[in-house]
Amino acid sequence: MKRGSLVVLEGLDGSGKSTQAAALVQVLLAAGHDVVATREPTDGPYGRRIRAMAASHERVPADELLHWFQADRREHVARVIAPALAAARVVVSDRYYLSSVAYQGALGLDPAEILRQSEAEFPQPDLALLLEIPPSAGLERARSRPDPDEPAFEQREFLERVADIYHRLDRPYLVRIDARGGEAEVHAAVVTALRERLDLLGPGPASAGTRGMRSSAD
Ligand code: TYD
Repeated sequence: MKRGSLVVLEGLDGSGKSTQAAALVQVLLAAGHDVVATREPTDGPYGRRIRAMAASHERVPADELLHWFQADRREHVARVIAPALAAARVVVSDRYYLSSVAYQGALGLDPAEILRQSEAEFPQPDLALLLEIPPSAGLERARSRPDPDEPAFEQREFLERVADIYHRLDRPYLVRIDARGGEAEVHAAVVTALRERLDLLGPGPASAGTRGMRSSAD
């Protein structure tokens, strides 16, 4: 059976994932693919619950958080990802299970165990693009959003742990992208990785999608 492709973007908040995901979608559309753009946490019931927990500054235990992210992902896969792959579409997701590995791992859970469970349960991505920035840069760009009651050093230490787990990941489908550069430069690296790993763009350089890109950090 012909299966579609699953491309996911991963990285710290403020790494430019969302901007790069949108530009990637444009390139894939221009190449004639039937593309589904999606993200986690989703806008479904579990995703809304996760956002409400974050907004309330509730301290939720790590294992409970992981449970909610996984419930959200289970529904995301069942309703969006698996049907799209079965229909030979190209799915671009802003975050997927490596976010649980890195973020819930940074909260003290075992990253290797989250990875093992996730790979056993969910479709593995054909390509995971890890946008790497120094944690201090992520902190700068995400400063408008964190909990004002939380001391800055905790956020920094947390983000450093997240970045460290991401950095040590080694999967056959994972490609690291240096995301310190400008949008167009990072986009070019994303397109190169896509060309090298998946047969979706055909021959020749693709510069489509670099013009008119949004300039938000994430
Ligand atoms: P984010 O993509 O930043 O969503 P939004 O744009 O709506 O703010 O994700 C929200 C946060 O959720 C982000 O800090 C990473 C975190 N997260 C996890 O901790 N575990 C997960 O499995 C996922 C998908 C996200």
